[in-house]
Amino acid sequence: MSRPFLVPASTPYRARSWHASSGVVLFAALFAALWIVLLLSPTGAWAQTAVTPATILTAPSAARAGAVQGAPTGAQVTASQLASQPAAPPGADTLAGYAQQNNGQREQAQPGNNAPMWRALKQESGFSSLPAPEAGVLIQPQTRYPGSDFTTAGEAWRQARNLLLIPVGGWLLILALVGIVVFYAVKGQIRLHQRPTGRKIERFTPFERFMHWGLAYSFIALAVSGVVMMFGKFFLLPVLGLGLFGWFSYALKTLHNFVGPLFGVFLVIVLLTFMRDNLPSRRDLAWLVQGGGMFGGAEVPAARFNAGEKIWFWLGVLALGLIAVGSGLVLDRLVPAFPYTRGAMQVAEIIHASATVVLLAMAFGHIYIGTIGTEGAIDGMRTGYVDEAWAMQHHALWLDDIKSGKIPAQRSGVESRVPLAVAKPKV
Ligand code: HEM
Repeated sequence: MSRPFLVPASTPYRARSWHASSGVVLFAALFAALWIVLLLSPTGAWAQTAVTPATILTAPSAARAGAVQGAPTGAQVTASQLASQPAAPPGADTLAGYAQQNNGQREQAQPGNNAPMWRALKQESGFSSLPAPEAGVLIQPQTRYPGSDFTTAGEAWRQARNLLLIPVGGWLLILALVGIVVFYAVKGQIRLHQRPTGRKIERFTPFERFMHWGLAYSFIALAVSGVVMMFGKFFLLPVLGLGLFGWFSYALKTLHNFVGPLFGVFLVIVLLTFMRDNLPSRRDLAWLVQGGGMFGGAEVPAARFNAGEKIWFWLGVLALGLIAVGSGLVLDRLVPAFPYTRGAMQVAEIIHASATVVLLAMAFGHIYIGTIGTEGAIDGMRTGYVDEAWAMQHHALWLDDIKSGKIPAQRSGVESRVPLAVAKPKV
């Protein structure tokens, strides 16, 4: 039976409201929703129709009829081969007798059905001289992953990926993009209320900007290659064809494997660089309650980073970023002494895919707010400086601290080429 590719309309995702107080808060809610689905729907709407004894019992006679008429299913079996097989045990037409058949008896009762052999393979571990862990185990034991049936672990992983991660992750990314477009259409850009003064404040040092852009560009490389690996077969394969798509996705997968650790290095440096100014404070609550002033009312005074940025920092960059890098290093086989069994790799892949998809949805929001969503926001990250009017509107508490001398007006040693709003302190 074919399975649905996209989440059925009856799942809770359709019912979720797409309006939220800010982009970041919305993505945090989507993250929680994804995990609720992951945890609560081990089979749910994606479960396959259960195989009942009735379907098993009707199968042999149908298959036997096909073989007699010269239309065997699976392997071609001649009448003389069938005659040489040991007779099926008494009661083979009952469910118990059917289950006890060996492979030869099953072949006679149902040509082309090798289930007894595969069942035996699942239960046995053989001998292998290969040094790899579990080298003597051909088929993994049974397990259940979120979204899968209780079945052999390889198949369970395939189901978790195809029936849960890909459809839910795909919808999450589509919803995030559609939500941003709708938000922009309704709200437009957050414009500067005052004319720019021409006086500048140093917002990011060259070191901070270098690390941020290193993180951003490596993230984009990972996001593009990751999306092609996970969803490319739906939108690229039909365009490129099998041969080209195979080479292209193989090249991107190799790129992904090398850029991942580099992203990890930038991530740790960015986390350490911006951690102090992202520490939560009581004033963040007021910002959150008023939705950052995004839905009418005045701008809510914020320190160097507002509460929305702090959520992005702690939930997106730190939590999801570290989960993505940690599981990615396992998938890259770079963690020393890690037990690289298939089961461990499957779990690492499920964690990696779910964390990175949510991180990507949040990153869409971050990139939107930092570019077309907010007038003048990109200047700080591009040039290092923002206009005093921008600082006053978006980060009034930070500007106050600079003006009162609590925070140095210029933190980098680079001589400014723009007129500064606050004089560089003489040392
Ligand atoms: C093309 C992609 C990106 C653009 C255009 C962009 C833009 C920006 C801008 C304009 C700011 C400064 C905001 C302000 O002045 O308050 C910023 C800050 C920041 N960005 Fe990005 N960014 C991008 C990708 C990323 C990625 C992929 C990450 C992490 C995975 C990231 C992490 C940060 C962090 C940690 C900050 C400091 C503010 C905070 O802690 O919340 N950025 N970004």
